[in-house]
This record gives sequence, C-alpha cells and structure tokens, in this order.
Amino acid sequence: MNDRVVFHDFHPAPDDLRAEVLAGLAAPRKYLAPKFFYDEAGSRLFDAICALPEYYPTRTEIGILRQHGAEMAALLGREALLIELGSGSSLKIRVLLAALRPAIYLPIDISRAHLRHSADELAAAFPELEVHAVCADYTRPLRLPIAAGARPRAAFFPGSSVGNFDPPAAERFLRRVGEMLGSGGHLLIGVDLRKDPAVLHAAYNDTQGVTAAFNLNLLRRINRELGADFDLGAFRHWAFFDDDRSRIEMHLVSERAQRVRVAEQVFVFESGETIHTENSYKYDVAGFQTLARAAGFKLLKVWCDENHWFSVHGLIWDGA
Ligand code: AVJ
Repeated sequence: MNDRVVFHDFHPAPDDLRAEVLAGLAAPRKYLAPKFFYDEAGSRLFDAICALPEYYPTRTEIGILRQHGAEMAALLGREALLIELGSGSSLKIRVLLAALRPAIYLPIDISRAHLRHSADELAAAFPELEVHAVCADYTRPLRLPIAAGARPRAAFFPGSSVGNFDPPAAERFLRRVGEMLGSGGHLLIGVDLRKDPAVLHAAYNDTQGVTAAFNLNLLRRINRELGADFDLGAFRHWAFFDDDRSRIEMHLVSERAQRVRVAEQVFVFESGETIHTENSYKYDVAGFQTLARAAGFKLLKVWCDENHWFSVHGLIWDGA
C-alpha cells in the first residue's frame, strides 16, 4: 500500500449484502441492487465492459473529458477537495487531474480491493496529490472523513451511474451530494443520453457475452458470500430498452421452475420468472437539467460528443 494514501474503511459489504439480498428475493417482483455487482470479479468484468466495442459510454465520455478538460478545470477551480463517487479504476479522473490540480483527491468506492489498487496507482502517478480513499456505499448517507474547511469542494460522478436511480431517487441523491458539497460546491456529472434503441440494445447485449457474465456473476457472488446454491446454468442474462420509461432494464431469467437456498431460506422461481438486477435511465439534456435544478443545483455548462450520445454537466450547488 502506498503510504501517501489514507484508507478509510466504512465496511459496506457483509451485513448489507445479506439483508438486502434476502429482502430483494422475498419481494413479489424479485430484485437485487446493482451495487452488488462489484465484487473483485465483477469489478474486473465491468472494466472489460468499458472496453467493449458496443459499450460506447466510457469511450464517449472520455472523449468529452479530453476535449473539454481545460474548460471543466477552469470552472471547478484549483486546490479543491475533489470527491469521486464510484471511482472504479480511476481512469476518467486521470484525464482531468493534470488540469484540475486538486489539493486532495477522495475516491469513494464499494469495491475495496479495486479501490486500494487504483488509489495506490494514482498516488504514485501524482506525487503532489493527497489521496483519501473511502470504501463505502455511496447510495447511503455518508460523512466525509475530512472536515469542511475553507477549501472549495467538487464532486465528479462519471459513467452515468446516476442512471441507476429512478428519477425521484436521483433527485434525492443529487440533493444529498449538494449538501455534502456545501454552498458553492461544484458537481461534474456524466449522463448517458437517449438514442437509437438498437445502439442501446447492443451496448447491453454484447456479442462476447461480457455483460451476461457480469450480470450472472452476481449469483456466483451470492453463492460464495451467502452460501447460496444458485445454479448458474439455469439463469440467463436479459437486457432491453423500455422506451416509455427511458431505461435499460437488466434481469436474470430463471430458465426452469426451481428452488434456491440462500442463507438458510428457500426461494421459489417459476420458469421464466426474473430477478431485476439493474436499471440504467437515459435522459435528454433538458430532462436531466430539470432534474438537477429540482435537486438544488444551478446549471453552469453542458458538454456533449458530436453524436449527442453522452453529456457531461457542470453544476453548482445553490443550497436551495
Ligand atoms: C456504470 C451503472 C452506468 O448502466 O451502463 C454496464 C453499468 N451495466 N453494463 C450502465 C452497466 C451493464 C453501467 N453504469
């Protein structure tokens, strides 16, 4: 471990996984929260998704960051406390760091091993930077381990992970981020846009089956960590775009009637019954701006790629 990285472990995993999995499988329509995808194998599979030819969001967003990074940095200001929500491999922040020059970088991620590794690498690559890595579930309220000071605060929330929340929950979440930033705090947030459903469909149904493996890995994880007996051959990946709700839905479909034991409880699946594992909402620019405003942010600027497939919004907390 790099000795310039301060590691704050808020221990998000074990209790939450058990309680939330049991509640989700007991629901009339079974569901599991997408944050549980990211065990070590899941985090690796997610990185592989980001490199797929069909998965346009990562490379499109990185293109926008490369093109407009200087302008984004000028907007956010230097010497800030820069918080990244769901930092993953910290690939995107690297594009901005040289221009942004924050005093402190504080990545928050639920995947402990992934976070340690990427925080170490980042600290090694940027010797001036103070790094505070926080292992936590950012969907839950969280108290920053650094006192509010005179330093300006900024948050970076890339990847359109805000699309995992339904719009009312996204609004509540953004308000919480705003409160954490305080008056004058900036948010730079990546938001995937509505587009040809065929492009969306392909992005979540890649020909190499990486997304399917990512989805199914959730059951493998539950088998391992909760002593469950999901038969991975008896479930299949299913993803589609629901145009009315403007969201991709991902499910795991039970291919036959079966019973599964999870943490001493038995769950019955009918043939064709699904576990809903993820929503990924797609916005248009105006729709997202309305949401951000309702959450208490003022809009400063939006950047898009030339196809208008992806957007990055610069916002400032109004304290409203
Ligand atoms: C990072 C949560 C936004 O919804 O596109 C990718 C996750 N799931 N392929 C997305 C994901 C399946 C991703 N988010």
